Amino acid sequence: MKQGIMIFGSTGNLMYKKLIPAIDHLLKKGHIAEDTKIYAMARRDCTLEDYIQDAKDNMIDDVNWDKIEPLMEYIILDVNNVEDYKTIKTQIEDDGIEDLVIYLAVPPFLFPVIAKGISESGIIQKGDQTKRIVFEKPFGEDLASAKSINKDLWQYFDEKQIYRIDHYLGKEMIQNILMVRFANKIFEQVWNHESIAYVMIVAKEEESVLSRGNYYDKIGALKDMLQSHLLQMAALVAMEAPETYTSEAIKEEKVAVLKALKLVPKDIILGQYKGYKKEDKVDPNSNTETFVFAQASIDNDRWRGVPFYFMTGKKLDEKRSEIIVQFKTSDKINTMWPEENTKNNRLQIEVAPDEGVVFQFNVKNPGLSNKLTSAKLDYCHSCQAVDNTPEAYERLLLDLLKQNRTLFTRWDEIETTWTIVEKASKRRRTLFTYDTFDDVKEEIINQYGEAFDDL
Ligand code: BG6
Repeated sequence: MKQGIMIFGSTGNLMYKKLIPAIDHLLKKGHIAEDTKIYAMARRDCTLEDYIQDAKDNMIDDVNWDKIEPLMEYIILDVNNVEDYKTIKTQIEDDGIEDLVIYLAVPPFLFPVIAKGISESGIIQKGDQTKRIVFEKPFGEDLASAKSINKDLWQYFDEKQIYRIDHYLGKEMIQNILMVRFANKIFEQVWNHESIAYVMIVAKEEESVLSRGNYYDKIGALKDMLQSHLLQMAALVAMEAPETYTSEAIKEEKVAVLKALKLVPKDIILGQYKGYKKEDKVDPNSNTETFVFAQASIDNDRWRGVPFYFMTGKKLDEKRSEIIVQFKTSDKINTMWPEENTKNNRLQIEVAPDEGVVFQFNVKNPGLSNKLTSAKLDYCHSCQAVDNTPEAYERLLLDLLKQNRTLFTRWDEIETTWTIVEKASKRRRTLFTYDTFDDVKEEIINQYGEAFDDL
């Protein structure tokens, strides 16, 4: 079947920084057929040559344009003009495309507009799964807008034709969470409130809002990161074992645990980095948070009493995403080695930039004493890959082409995560300002009374 990939919003950062490099990798590995058509759709009036030059100027990666360019068409389109969609339909038919992925890398308010054009022109007919439509995050700007967008989409397409992106789900180590949890007896048995002291989910970033001030200032860190990526990670860490390793069974369990998860509003710390108000396209009086530290509780038998902490923010000391599962103190330590200052077991699932699993445990200190010392088993995931481990968007694009839905979010996941965030954000907002990561740590100690040595 001849395939087509059509991308709306193709002059944006996502296209240049993620989607084109992902297409390049997939072409190199032979996962995209050489007769595939790539349609780059945008408003800007320019030629394909100008478009490619602009892409080159804005890209970090080196891609093999000799391979991509012949597959590519640049199409100028007014998303509100019905005639433009009709022209596209004719072009797709003339190109002999039988299997089409339409990717909307545009702000959520445009989702219903473009969806309507695509549906009414007959580019995608409801129920025909050879034609699929993909929505970048954020899916809505709050619960109400997400619901309204979704209602519109269900009018035009079947759920099986709708793919909602959370690119964290495409990351190797996020997919690895279920393997580590359920393919290892030692973890499966202790994965509960009896053995685990707390779970911490971290996504720190060094960069500022860069050129995205316009988008970010309306959204903030809670909605940009916590509602999507961090809660998805929490769902995978906390869910019950699915009956089978299949898309729907996994989603059922994710939704079930998300419904039991509540953020504790009084414990949410919101911060804003110094200088944020001066960023391009940011309101000089902005009250938008660029940092969040939050605590959640999960009201079920497995997790009652175990805090789940979330930390994410821009302009921090490093780029690091990881999940820390901190175990309780062993029952025997205090009686057998009362003098020792030991570290508790800890499992760290490193998502980025390192990809791996680190397990901290206690062993005898080498030598003549009976002292304990802490050691680490360190598994490097990327070191095992023959080539580089695939980047998230590479995996997600491939799954889209193959109609594999596991790594995309279902509507009830989105609805539940928006509900969680919305309930928590009703309180009055007070923001602290941070310049260095020490300022952040100080704020956390003030609020929680502890330093969390993992920060
Ligand atoms: C995006 C957010 O979803 O994720 C960005 O909108 C953030 O603000 C990005 O920078 C982080 O993704 P990654 O893969 O770089 O950790």
